[in-house]
Amino acid sequence: MTTITIPTQGAPQAVTEAWTALPAWLPVPDLGLLSVNAFVLRGREPLLVDTGLQALEAEFLAALAQVVAPEDLRWIWLSHADADHIGNLRPVLERAPRARVVTNFLGAGKMGMMGGFDLSRVHILAEDEVLEVGGRILRPQRPPYCDAPESLGFHDATDGVLFAVDCFGALLPTPVADAEAIPEARLRAGIEAWSAIDVPWLTRLDRAWLRRALADLERLTPAHVLSGHLPPSRDLARLARIVTEIAPVGDTRRVA
Ligand SMILES: [Fe+2]
Ligand SMILES: [Fe+2]
Repeated sequence: MTTITIPTQGAPQAVTEAWTALPAWLPVPDLGLLSVNAFVLRGREPLLVDTGLQALEAEFLAALAQVVAPEDLRWIWLSHADADHIGNLRPVLERAPRARVVTNFLGAGKMGMMGGFDLSRVHILAEDEVLEVGGRILRPQRPPYCDAPESLGFHDATDGVLFAVDCFGALLPTPVADAEAIPEARLRAGIEAWSAIDVPWLTRLDRAWLRRALADLERLTPAHVLSGHLPPSRDLARLARIVTEIAPVGDTRRVA
């Protein structure tokens, strides 16, 4: 049994001195809780990664304001255009007149199709471009698997932070602040359950290809792995092992 039965915004949670998570929890009926995270990078050019759940607009904006004055925001990194990531994009943009939305070509196209967005506030990143943010570099990083083709993560070598978009998302029985607090069997079951819903093609991916993609991430040796749907982790090797274990070649039994 979970103690959370309605969408709930948590307290901001420091990841590094510069990075802070804005965690929320979304109950998935009969299945558990889904972590829904946004992140703030403080500094000379404050940056927000994703904008939370619309159902929690007031709570999300209050949590954001605890970490950074919204009017100081210079960038909003859009991981992808799914509803659980752009829920409060409009009110954040209203409160952050200097902020530009960072996305790629398809992400900008999807924003255009939603209508009502001022596309002059979009900063389109090309595949080979980096974003310089207040003296640090965010290098775009495609996640090994995703639920939307515009998905755009990044690596921040300054703090050793890897943002993996929806990759490594898990359904969990109770809220936790730290992925390492989740026993491995529980985490494996949670990633498997959420992946079957959100990325049902994961088990069809070639395992060797997936291993190579995850190994590419591991070579970055991130100290912190941030996901839209998992509490912050410091153990990419464990996450990579779990994901490859649930994606055997030719095993489509779990695919709907
Ligand atoms: Fe998504
Ligand atoms: Fe998501």
